Amino acid sequence: PHKKVSKICCIGAGYVGGPTCAVIAYKCPDIIVTIVDLNQARIDAWNSDNLPIYEPGLDDVVKSVRGKNLFFSTDVDTAIKEADLIFVSVNTPTKKSGVGKGFAADLGYVESATRHIAKVAESDKIVVEKSTVPCRTAQSMRKILESNGKPGARFDILSNPEFLAEGTAIRDLFAPDRVLIGSLDTVYGRAAAASLADVYANWVPRKQVITMNLWSSELSKLAANALLAQRISSINALSAICEATGADVDEVSYAVGLDSRIGPKFLKASVGFGGSCFQKDILNLVYLSESLHLPDVAEYWRQVVEMNESQKRRFTQHIISSLFNTLTGKRLAVLGFAFKKDTGDTRESAAITLIKYFRQEQAKIAIYDPKVEESQIWYDLAEPGVVDDLTALKKQVTITSSAYEAAQGADAVVICTEWDEFRDTKLDYEKIYATMNKPAFIFDGRLILNQKKLEKIGFKVECIGRSRLEESFE
Ligand code: UDX
Ligand code: UDX
Ligand code: ADP
Repeated sequence: PHKKVSKICCIGAGYVGGPTCAVIAYKCPDIIVTIVDLNQARIDAWNSDNLPIYEPGLDDVVKSVRGKNLFFSTDVDTAIKEADLIFVSVNTPTKKSGVGKGFAADLGYVESATRHIAKVAESDKIVVEKSTVPCRTAQSMRKILESNGKPGARFDILSNPEFLAEGTAIRDLFAPDRVLIGSLDTVYGRAAAASLADVYANWVPRKQVITMNLWSSELSKLAANALLAQRISSINALSAICEATGADVDEVSYAVGLDSRIGPKFLKASVGFGGSCFQKDILNLVYLSESLHLPDVAEYWRQVVEMNESQKRRFTQHIISSLFNTLTGKRLAVLGFAFKKDTGDTRESAAITLIKYFRQEQAKIAIYDPKVEESQIWYDLAEPGVVDDLTALKKQVTITSSAYEAAQGADAVVICTEWDEFRDTKLDYEKIYATMNKPAFIFDGRLILNQKKLEKIGFKVECIGRSRLEESFE
């Protein structure tokens, strides 16, 4: 017989922990959920009207349960002491130095959260790894807990990877394709998994809550992200062939996606994938493969990231050559800075890399994004450690409060994020055309525009994965 969970603590109030545990509180009125973080400003924001992350539907969920069975706090000790089950949802960035630099995950935050649990816990806890972690992290957590815990307190470790995508987090959490719980194959391990499965069973059909061994669960998370990213790199590699041949990548995606073995989703060619997970998880997999002495496997996955970088370089090169081989002094209106629509998150956003390239070509850049904070854009573009970089940056880059303002006097509009408001049904492109330098170019890095319609207005339109019409007839 397994224990019923009545109090949950979530360590880490970020993109993963915040929405996930808010939804658990919303769906499980009998469970008290406390989300803790060391960052006071972040907790204050969660307790305010202005939540620290933008996610459609999140406000409603938080506001309906906050103060009832959902609490945000910096009192980590109390939350740990009181909880039966603790989610560890701290950040696991790629290591910036030392062994595995640039590839391995920095598990410092996971370790310190785990040590914190060991130090203050006075009773049995189920400890759940929620952050994306390299395979076998659970093992390290178990060792830390067992060698530092108080006598009499037992710890059971579970892996419960999160599959939510930003921008659709609430929808993904309400109706997940599956919930994955990994545990040790022992009496205690299976009981802990059953306790967590009961929590999800409040709203997820039982057959979608699947249990397996810890290592399979940890690896499944990396595998899912690697396969998704691989699809994007594959379609992006095909987009290069399309541009060179006169094929249209949207048509190719459509045609191949109708094969039920391939399926239609996640085949949209783009300027490159971003986000906090894909690159990090693949590099993790590369590192893991290398440490397991599997160099061919490592090389295979490394190419997925390499193709993504190549896509951004290729897109930039295409812009330069279209604009008569020079960007010097030209104004580029960059529409979209987030790594995808419906989020204010910019981690690994393709826009950051593109703007860096544009700056190297001495372009003037005007950026507009509906959700990303101005301070975040400056932070992402500044080069840490370079003296006076911000002054130089501000000579070259401006941030505007509308797409129209960004395009004013521009030589080209560059679509970097597929925000709905940039579509030709929403933005008045005639108005934009009128204020631009001629010839006025649009580079659609997200394939959201109707090329013919914009060409009628007078634009020169260049799209990922589509060669210019006149060229394809030559
Ligand atoms: C991803 C996984 O989807 C999610 O399951 C996991 O938990 C975390 O990582 P996320 O990074 O939030 O989620 O967004 P996702 O929708 O996967 O997009 C990632 C990047 O790929 C974005 O930059 C997006 O624009 C790009 N993308 C996605 C494409 O370029 N083409 C596509 O067809 C799909
Ligand atoms: C393939 C395509 O499926 C088909 O659409 C196309 O018209 C011709 O090429 P075929 O080669 O006959 O068909 O068989 P397929 O079922 O695709 O298998 C190809 C190979 O992949 C086989 O050796 C099969 O054993 C292997 N395979 C397939 C796997 O190893 N794992 C799988 O999950 C699927
Ligand atoms: P993710 O996208 O994985 O959710 P975030 O960076 O958005 O990553 O969130 C992780 C959060 O975890 C941050 O707000 C950070 O302050 C918090 N955090 C990291 N280490 C600890 C810790 N030991 N105790 C409490 N909170 C922590």
